[in-house]
Amino acid sequence: MSIDALIDAARRARMNAVAPFSGFLVGAAVEARDRTIVSGCNIENATYGLTLCAERVAMFKALSEGHRHFVRVAIVTDTDAPAPPCGACRQILWEFGGDLEIVLANLEREIERYRLADLLPLPFDAATMKTRRTRRTTK
Ligand code: THU
Repeated sequence: MSIDALIDAARRARMNAVAPFSGFLVGAAVEARDRTIVSGCNIENATYGLTLCAERVAMFKALSEGHRHFVRVAIVTDTDAPAPPCGACRQILWEFGGDLEIVLANLEREIERYRLADLLPLPFDAATMKTRRTRRTTK
């Protein structure tokens, strides 16, 4: 799968963004290990706080369609410089995708590429909760 196809999928998804409050449209597309592409857009709501970012929509859609292994995600915004994912999305992408390649693009097709481990150093995840004690329910 070429990076271009992944960016195109994110670009198309961006046009479906439901962003009446911010006016900031975001598109994302995750590529599964089997090369399937699943896209998402940001979806805002009137109480603001329940807003879902494009990256999480794409990842949750992919998970709900049965995908469990991912290689990269593209994120497209209409910004001067390609925009990085927010902290919440970094967390979700890490937990379900591991050290993904993160491809950022704007509408001028400027592209930046990162590894998620570099964008989210020292992450908290299931492995972090390992304990030598046998029971976690007591103090
Ligand atoms: N947004 C995303 O979709 N992804 C991000 O990583 C950052 C922010 C959305 C949420 C909201 O709808 C709008 O952009 C402005 O924050």
